[in-house]
Amino acid sequence: MNRLAIMSYLFAPVVLLLAALAGCGHTTIAAGSHDTHEVEDDVELATIMGEMQRHSMKLGYAINAQNQRLAEFYLHEVEETLEEIKAVREHDGLPIGHIAGVIVNPALPPLDNAIEAGDWTAANKAYQGLIEACNNCHTATQHEFIVILPATGTPPFNQKF
Ligand code: HEC
Repeated sequence: MNRLAIMSYLFAPVVLLLAALAGCGHTTIAAGSHDTHEVEDDVELATIMGEMQRHSMKLGYAINAQNQRLAEFYLHEVEETLEEIKAVREHDGLPIGHIAGVIVNPALPPLDNAIEAGDWTAANKAYQGLIEACNNCHTATQHEFIVILPATGTPPFNQKF
């Protein structure tokens, strides 16, 4: 083996290593994502209303059954759903959240107090007040054709009240 051959034999791995290192320097520049996705304030109000209907209906059945813990549970659900409605500023150009608070807020403390006291006559009256508030808001938001009634008859749920 002559000198040149020995040299290339010795240096070949070094050359390969250098090439590999140089390769590492090539960073692939990923295509930048420029999606400026605007968060839309377009919630499905009818879906939240469906929740409201179910919770307020079950609240009615729980009050009819004088089931205090269940009534407390559903009142809490109604309150939580109301918070969701209050967070909706507008829907179809109609103001929602503010009106919902003004109309429904006053109906809640009497209901809460009556259920907590186990005063079922007062709870029933306060519950009628809540249902009236639903309808008042439907009228105020041009949906007077959606008329809510207090829960009566046999509960249409596979649940004990
Ligand atoms: C901001 C005032 C407001 C309040 C308070 C309110 N609603 Fe509504 N509700 C609306 C509007 C507006 C719609 C129509 C939504 C749409 O156009 O998608 C609606 C729709 C509905 C619907 C039709 C959707 C469905 O699932 O069938 C029901 C039922 C309903 N509301 C029940 C209730 C009940 C029950 C309450 C009270 C516990 C209540 N709402 C309180 C404004 C209100």
